[in-house]
Amino acid sequence: MEMLVRRGFLWQSFEIYGGMAGFIDYAPLGTGLRRRIEDIWRKYFVINERAAEIDTPTVCIEEVFIASGHVESFTDVAIECEKCGRIFRADHYVKEKLGIDVDETVEAIKEVMETYGLECECGGKFKDPKPLGLMFSTTIGPGKGKRGYLRPETAQGMFVDFRRLLDYFRGKLPFGAAQIGRAYRNEISPRQGVIRLREFNQAELEYFVNPKEKRHPEFYKVASDVVKLVDKFDNEHEITLREAVEKGIIAHEVLAYFIGKTRRFLLEIGIKDEKLRFRQHKDDERAHYAVDCWDAEVLTSFGWVEVVGIADRSDYDLRRHSMYSGEDLAVFIQYSEPIRVKKKKVIPKMEKLGPVFKDKAKKIAEMLKDATPADEIVLKIDSEEVKITREFFEVVEVEEEIAGEKIIPHVIEPSFGLDRITYAVLEHAYDRDIVDGEERRVLRLKRWVAPIQVAVLPLLSREPFTTRAQEIASMLKSEGFYTEYDDSGSIGRRYRRFDEIGTPFCITVDHQTFEDDTVTIRDRDTTKQVRVKVSELPNVLRELLNSEKDITEFGIVFRE
Ligand code: GAP
Repeated sequence: MEMLVRRGFLWQSFEIYGGMAGFIDYAPLGTGLRRRIEDIWRKYFVINERAAEIDTPTVCIEEVFIASGHVESFTDVAIECEKCGRIFRADHYVKEKLGIDVDETVEAIKEVMETYGLECECGGKFKDPKPLGLMFSTTIGPGKGKRGYLRPETAQGMFVDFRRLLDYFRGKLPFGAAQIGRAYRNEISPRQGVIRLREFNQAELEYFVNPKEKRHPEFYKVASDVVKLVDKFDNEHEITLREAVEKGIIAHEVLAYFIGKTRRFLLEIGIKDEKLRFRQHKDDERAHYAVDCWDAEVLTSFGWVEVVGIADRSDYDLRRHSMYSGEDLAVFIQYSEPIRVKKKKVIPKMEKLGPVFKDKAKKIAEMLKDATPADEIVLKIDSEEVKITREFFEVVEVEEEIAGEKIIPHVIEPSFGLDRITYAVLEHAYDRDIVDGEERRVLRLKRWVAPIQVAVLPLLSREPFTTRAQEIASMLKSEGFYTEYDDSGSIGRRYRRFDEIGTPFCITVDHQTFEDDTVTIRDRDTTKQVRVKVSELPNVLRELLNSEKDITEFGIVFRE
């Protein structure tokens, strides 16, 4: 962490005022790295899916979170010390002090506290545990205004926009809505730096499917990938995704597909396969909206950390928003061929209705035609309830042709925590080796995520080396490369600095540059160098940065 702060990846927010737990600043290199990761995420989860990215407000009206269930259920159990007044997240405190994994329920935590006589760090007694809401609330508008919340997930904006999204996708399932943006949770006692934040970045895909067809057209592409799974009974499997679905370990293809795609994405940005697993939530662990959930967990110095949650949210969200807003969020699914079904239908008897109901008879007859057959049918006419008994209608069996049906789509949601992912990428890339008899710290970032792609260095910090190096740096910038120029200190120290921030290639202007207009390119990982014509640099760098090709394929090896 010290290196990440010193070298300009992450800084403590509000540092000059003493900082505040749960907030971090992305410094220049951290910002660049996260953006690169976001772009690759877009490639995987937007461009190469039937999906579209949207951007919705981070401040939401309370109706949204009443409907979504967050106001009622999005809580953690907290314990407050009677003496010092500090409040802790109960399950984390129990784990930290007693080493016990406890269910996050008031009853379970109370029982553990009583059994072990759990006290506060200050020696004080705890009050009874109680649930605390995790959302930041706010007021929209002046004065009393209207209650609102900062969103705790980007997802709800996409559910609320479902009808518009369905039109955008021409009424056809499956499709996905994606969003990258901030989420806010007023975590009770965040103690793990960048892992548990109060303001953080999510990248979420809500993939809407027909519940009767939980399949993905491109499952075949990942079906043979071998993944490490820990199921909800703690059984471990190393298995292909196809087998995992066939054996019922993963409930269906869509979940398996996104587990596979998530794994490929994480490997592409530099997460190590041997430090990656997918763990299924236990039945008492799932969020209030999920019927199944698999977390991508990555091994870091904090232990196994959840970086992605891949959940089957069923029709929970759309059904709730439909119920609370009154909007019909169902989708008409057309059958491949119309089907004929036998059905009971109500046929009004006008000759009986007329004399009794007079001028209302026509309206009643119309309503009866659509009513569900029963011995007695209750209709609401001009806000008055009218009971229609069997003498006024008959029930007949008819055969009807049906073109399709209305369903509420189910949602499969891969939800990525970009801060944890960015941090894990940095940890997995960090390495030490020996170069020229000295220990070197090197960040072996994948070339395509490096925030600074190329550094241009004059061999000596004087003319004419400096001017030529600056010219080359600006030429590379104009070609679109993230380039830095550096002439401070010795060339060896400059190489070490760029190794430590993960810059894959250093270009050096030396004496020979003035003879044949060539420069050296040095590879961060192997420290090998080749000579290349300045005019060829953009093409060579472009190819190198998009591949893992060996640098020696691109020029004459310099100083073996
Ligand atoms: N829409 C579903 C959802 O938000 P989640 O498992 O609560 O699911 C998704 O969050 C991801 O967001 C997690 O896997 C994690 O990487 C990240 N995340 C959640 N809470 C976080 C926090 N307090 N600080 C940093 N990242 C967090």
